[in-house]
Amino acid sequence: MAAPAGTLPIAVLLQGLSFCMQICGIVGHITTSHRALSLKSILAALALMFALPTWAAQLTIELDHTRKTWQTADLLTHPDVQTVQVVDDVSYKRNMTYRAVPLASLLPGVKPDNHLQAVALDGFAAELTAAPLLENHGARAWLAVEDPAHPWPALAAGKPSAGPFYLVWTDPQAGPISPEQWPFQIAGIKQLKTVAERFPALLPDPKLAANDPVNRGFALFQKNCLACHRLNGAGDAQVGPDLNIPYNPTEYFSGDFLKRYIRDPQSMRHWPQAKMPAFAASVLPDGELDLLVAYLKHMAGRKQQP
Ligand code: HEC
Repeated sequence: MAAPAGTLPIAVLLQGLSFCMQICGIVGHITTSHRALSLKSILAALALMFALPTWAAQLTIELDHTRKTWQTADLLTHPDVQTVQVVDDVSYKRNMTYRAVPLASLLPGVKPDNHLQAVALDGFAAELTAAPLLENHGARAWLAVEDPAHPWPALAAGKPSAGPFYLVWTDPQAGPISPEQWPFQIAGIKQLKTVAERFPALLPDPKLAANDPVNRGFALFQKNCLACHRLNGAGDAQVGPDLNIPYNPTEYFSGDFLKRYIRDPQSMRHWPQAKMPAFAASVLPDGELDLLVAYLKHMAGRKQQP
């Protein structure tokens, strides 16, 4: 998936910065007689900072009754850690091998109907229903842990890797598990109330039946879109525009242009920094795309100012 690879994670920058300051401090100390730091030494420190492998990191897991911060080393020596082969990795688009801990082992006391959120270093927030994360057969969720001694490849030239922590799946087609359920560069996992409880402004008309197409579209919206988009100002995402305020895309995309946009945003407008992934029919079949658009259309009639 093409989620949040665009920005250098803030933590990495900060680590880099403090490292650079240490180096600059040392260099500064050596060169105090010259009073000013030479530009050359700063550049050398910067080059060093980008050449070094990923630093060991930490992952905070906040559940209703417990909060635990794991260090990379604790996870790499976790009793359940294994070597896992991932076929067609969603972020690397090829087969990958990871040291990984079954996610269920890190979620004591979590029940299938609980709701979790994985927050990435750059603010991408993946909404996750606990049920598939707790399965121990079929599609299985793993927390892949990047070992600083064996760093993973960059996601793209000049970009960081999917580390320090990455949610990967074995047998994802048995879920099925969508690309949005593979958050990478994870900084923390939190147990939260369900999306509907936290953000009532996202709710369709409560008079609709639970299996109404609009409610089914709402579920698809949560699974595929809410990680990046707010609606009526509701949601935690900071990546894409609000999809109802001031205008709902169903109000200004005519004909089937909205569906064409979701299928392939770059087919309609083109720019290098574009971050919205294409939703192919293999991920979001035509029937589901219709349900999703039905939800958006319905919400155009339920605007709330944030
Ligand atoms: C990984 C983040 C991400 C996901 C997931 C995502 N979007 Fe987007 N979306 C964006 C971003 C960022 C933009 C702004 C254009 C760009 O940078 O590509 C955007 C733009 C849009 C636009 C165009 C708005 C405009 O007026 O230009 C629509 C419509 C849209 N998204 C709908 C959706 C729907 C529906 C889904 C779920 C099926 C979805 N997006 C999933 C990030 C995302």
